[in-house]
Amino acid sequence: MAEVFRTQDWDKYQMDYRNPHQAIEPLESEVAVVDNALRSLVDAGILPHIDYDREKMLAHRQAVADLFEIPWTAITPRMQRLLYAINAIAKPANMIAAGVFCGNTFISNAGAGVGPGACYQAKQLIGIEIKPDEAERAERNVRRIDPTGVARVLAADAVDAMRGFKDPINLLYLDADGDGGKGKGIYLEILEAGLSRMPTGSIVLAHNSVNCADRLKHYLDYVRDESHLRASVNVIFDPEGLEVSVV
Ligand SMILES: C[S@@+](CC[C@H](N)C(=O)[O-])C[C@H]1O[C@@H](n2cnc3c(N)ncnc32)[C@H](O)[C@@H]1O
Repeated sequence: MAEVFRTQDWDKYQMDYRNPHQAIEPLESEVAVVDNALRSLVDAGILPHIDYDREKMLAHRQAVADLFEIPWTAITPRMQRLLYAINAIAKPANMIAAGVFCGNTFISNAGAGVGPGACYQAKQLIGIEIKPDEAERAERNVRRIDPTGVARVLAADAVDAMRGFKDPINLLYLDADGDGGKGKGIYLEILEAGLSRMPTGSIVLAHNSVNCADRLKHYLDYVRDESHLRASVNVIFDPEGLEVSVV
């Protein structure tokens, strides 16, 4: 069933895109907001519980602040924590992130499986970025946190990469802004390219469910239709938003 989780301050919780490590609110308040968002995902049947290691989350955050080159990002501290927590709770063996730019969104997901925030053993955590220069920078960033190669970034079109990935996909994160006028409208194409290989219980995360809602209309209509995905929650706690759906 399609649901909404919304905080009263979602439109006032603003970050500086070029200063992503700056705190916007006290840590306890960030943790409480994300706990409430996670509870809404439990209520919708998307997650089994809301427990994750908060110290490891902070170790992950510190490593990204110390080691990543991030020219800009729209991932707020709340979103960074929510992405980490969803992955820490769902523990996807295979995760694909589509449209990762410098890798910050990718590592917000993959950081639960590699580096100082790791809390489970993942198999393949793959970021896909269509611009070779950006893919190279993202891969360079990721290597500083994960020397093992479990997490890696490939320069490719996410639709092709999804089609070509033959193993089960346990979590898909969507953030590609397409080309040829498609923009974020490409999300549905990427999902459809791999949905048949997503087992029941797999999670789909779509960034910009709020500020790109118009462009994402086809995607959002699709995932909110119970004949396609079992449940979907629009998490609105910052101006970008995240649609969280379960297969
Ligand atoms: C705007 S960025 C996402 C930034 C992210 N929301 C953040 O705050 O850090 C979207 C990225 O998707 C990439 N992209 C666009 N179309 C793509 C495709 N078909 N496959 C893979 N990446 C794609 C773009 O090159 C761009 O780097």
